[in-house]
Amino acid sequence: MKKISVIGGGHVGLVSAVCFANSGYDVILCERDIEKTEHIRTARPPFFEPSLEVLLKKTIDVGRLRVSTRIKDAVSNSEVTFVAVETPIKPDGSIDLTSIETSSAETGEALRGEEGYHLVVIRSTVIPGTTENVVRPIIEKRSGKRVGEDFGLAMQPEFLREGSAIEDTLNPNRIVIGEYDKRSGEVLERLCLDFYRGKAPPIIRMNLASAEMVKYASNAFLTMKISFINQVANLCEKMKEVDVVKVADAMGLDERIGRKFLNAGVGFGGPCLGKDLRAFINFSCQLGYTSEIFEAVLNVNERQARHVVDLAARELGGLKAKTIAILGLSFKPNTDDVKDSPSIRIINELLKEGASLVAYDPRAIENARLILGEKVRYASSALECLSDTDCCIVATEWDEFKRLSPQDFSELMRKPLLINGRRIFDPGVYGKSLRYVAVGLGASR
Ligand code: UDX
Repeated sequence: MKKISVIGGGHVGLVSAVCFANSGYDVILCERDIEKTEHIRTARPPFFEPSLEVLLKKTIDVGRLRVSTRIKDAVSNSEVTFVAVETPIKPDGSIDLTSIETSSAETGEALRGEEGYHLVVIRSTVIPGTTENVVRPIIEKRSGKRVGEDFGLAMQPEFLREGSAIEDTLNPNRIVIGEYDKRSGEVLERLCLDFYRGKAPPIIRMNLASAEMVKYASNAFLTMKISFINQVANLCEKMKEVDVVKVADAMGLDERIGRKFLNAGVGFGGPCLGKDLRAFINFSCQLGYTSEIFEAVLNVNERQARHVVDLAARELGGLKAKTIAILGLSFKPNTDDVKDSPSIRIINELLKEGASLVAYDPRAIENARLILGEKVRYASSALECLSDTDCCIVATEWDEFKRLSPQDFSELMRKPLLINGRRIFDPGVYGKSLRYVAVGLGASR
């Protein structure tokens, strides 16, 4: 069984390292942030992800997963290195490759004294051409070795979602392998087949830049589905008794369309989708191509949070001095991540209008506080959040919120007005005892 190293202890890096280790591989994870390293070493994941803590503890306890702050340690003690460092974007939307460049340089240095074939696999999301034109020359220069002869180079985009990252790693729909040469692709394919033990999903091999393109195109397509259904939803609201959920259910039964990612709501957020779409737009500009669809998708998404705020303003006759309960701060359920969260966009719009806010989230309050400070009051439960408010906006569809009854709203709120941004409550039930407004729901006759 191959020895594996993973560079980067973020979502992709830590989850992959834990899954490999749990499957019996010897894994060494390299994370340069000392505080994060200490968290991982003591089996306390630096972020919330279902099942991660238990698996991390198991793999640390049996000694299958080791943690280091030095890339040299990681590379020298393995045959395959996965690079999963962050690739943020700059204010102009161009990708910031600093971490990719630094990790490539250190990987090259580490390979200099090593004997035997080593495979480097880029897992970070990088602009097409990066592995070939940035990673390859840096590693070759620093190692004094040649790709294709002394070391292999591959690019394997990741498609895992926060909140189901372990499940997605263990049961992916497909594996995409971008390869510098045949040997690199074969070593990686064999490793994947070994990891999935006869239950591997389809594996598609291609050149490096095509694999990099698959990742951007996939994410852009997902965002297009979301913005598309949000526009349909906004149109449904202008009609009588037309509900976007019914429309999406029926559309989704067409196999060419599919029901997934047709949930209308407050827009998409999170650390990847918006960032990757911006980088893709910037990349296409660099190539002299105007990507009209991608730009429209982004604009629609940015307006969707405002749309929900407008619904609240319309129902309340203005937002000044109104007290509004916000249920959900994370960008989606089962995560404590608030990066680019639509809920934060909604909150900022409401604050601009002079509303006073109380918010609750089962996991993300600590992270939200780092962004919003004390501009918002934080409740310690959903019920406390609703108390004495004029309106409630559901911004994240946590399971915990689905258990709230119509009476919880009508008894606790000053004026029971529910703006359902995530379509988690049945309008037929909740609409009877509350003023109920939802994204994509046309008014009743
Ligand atoms: C995404 C991609 O799905 C994943 O393949 C990639 O590797 C990383 O980015 P993630 O950001 O974790 O994953 O979550 P995802 O489930 O895709 O949701 C992203 C956002 O879209 C969330 O804010 C979610 O609420 C929103 N969304 C999703 C909708 O508004 N409607 C939908 O139908 C689906």
